[in-house]
Amino acid sequence: MAAREHFGSRFAAVMAMAGSAIGLGNIWRFPYMVGQNGGAAFIIVYLLAAVLLSLPIFMAESIIGRSTHQGTFGAMQTLAPGTKWKWLGLLTVASPLIIMSYYSVVGGWSIEYLLKSLTFGFNKPEVATEFGTFISSTWGPLLAHTAFMATCALIVVFGVKKGIENFSKITTPVLFVLIVIIMVFSCTLPGAYKGIEYLVKPDFSALTGEAVAMAVGQSFFSLSLGVGTILTYASYIKKEENLLSAGIGTSAFDLLFAIIAGFAIMPAVFASGIEPGAGPGLIFETLPFIFSKMAGTMPVVSGIIAILFFVTILFAALTSAISMYETGVAYLTEERHMSRKAAVLLIFAGCWTVGVLCSLSFGPLSGFKLIGNSIFDLLDKFASNILMPFGGILFTVFVGWIMPKPQVKSEITSGKTTMASQVVYSVMYFLIRFVAPVGILAIIISQFVL
Ligand code: PFF
Repeated sequence: MAAREHFGSRFAAVMAMAGSAIGLGNIWRFPYMVGQNGGAAFIIVYLLAAVLLSLPIFMAESIIGRSTHQGTFGAMQTLAPGTKWKWLGLLTVASPLIIMSYYSVVGGWSIEYLLKSLTFGFNKPEVATEFGTFISSTWGPLLAHTAFMATCALIVVFGVKKGIENFSKITTPVLFVLIVIIMVFSCTLPGAYKGIEYLVKPDFSALTGEAVAMAVGQSFFSLSLGVGTILTYASYIKKEENLLSAGIGTSAFDLLFAIIAGFAIMPAVFASGIEPGAGPGLIFETLPFIFSKMAGTMPVVSGIIAILFFVTILFAALTSAISMYETGVAYLTEERHMSRKAAVLLIFAGCWTVGVLCSLSFGPLSGFKLIGNSIFDLLDKFASNILMPFGGILFTVFVGWIMPKPQVKSEITSGKTTMASQVVYSVMYFLIRFVAPVGILAIIISQFVL
């Protein structure tokens, strides 16, 4: 069998992991959730969740991946042979692929909107209502979904270094430059201060139990946690790299990006006199509306900002989707001994088919409901409310209670024995062992009780 690939450097690993983390979750989900759940108050809970719950899960997954240099299934087989933990390995082969199936539909919308922006298609007043018409049609969204998945397949088939690393090393830094340009533009619009105030002034009355659960769920989604993608990427990190700094670096980039995205979107929303709680349509309905309004006075600037904005969304979505793709490919190539090409094609066929159903669930299949939800909503809720927290608990329990302590320690400290690394290790081990599993469990239970 060919030698297993590794990321070329720590920079490459962090860019790939940050690329996985920074995605539609940051630009599409985070701003509308902040909008609906009390602005800065939601952000405070989100920050707490990131440090106390998400970072430990991130580390738990990284420790499992890096210590075995195997994908999810192989890693669990190696660390706990002949036990039921193999089911966690199998579950986390399936869960990222479930997410990719519907994620790709939204990725497709961003392709459509990028094409629209390239032809200056927002320079007309009816643009906000076009979104509903587009997603409920049959062929346009299907074509876009196909194009998005085919692009992911093309990147993943080139392998970890030539495909994923090279793509992420360029696009992840570019994403930051683009979102900062958009933020500066948005914050300098007349009336933007109201949006800025909304993001910095907490309204704790909006912080219901449900809002807290949403902040935690959003933090997991945003860091791609509990579904094995971080585990898989960490398995490509060399032994001598420091895992903790990769974890902190990735989490910090993801947080920073989400906050900048908030400041890129909310001030523009307020400057146009629109309500912040517009929901999932925020970036596809509200922003095109803003671009169309701006086009009246400054058509070229608004056209360029629109293009930059949808390029950002598309790149962010691609670097995330390829991490989900790779988790499945790692399993099929390593455990089922398939060629990389065959694995990529098989996953394409399966996820594309499920994605077709998700896409049609906004149009011809909109009447078809499962437990009161459309297929798209059901998969999204199932992934973020069940698969991610459940996987998060199991990964932290496994590392905190099942894996031998010296092995965990050597992964966290990279073998260093300085005072600082001992303290960091003790804090992280405590978070992994107690705080994260208990915290997540409490939040899951509170959703049923409150
Ligand atoms: N973190 C990605 C985002 O914020 O868009 C979403 C994601 C990527 C979820 C990879 C799960 C995953 F495995």
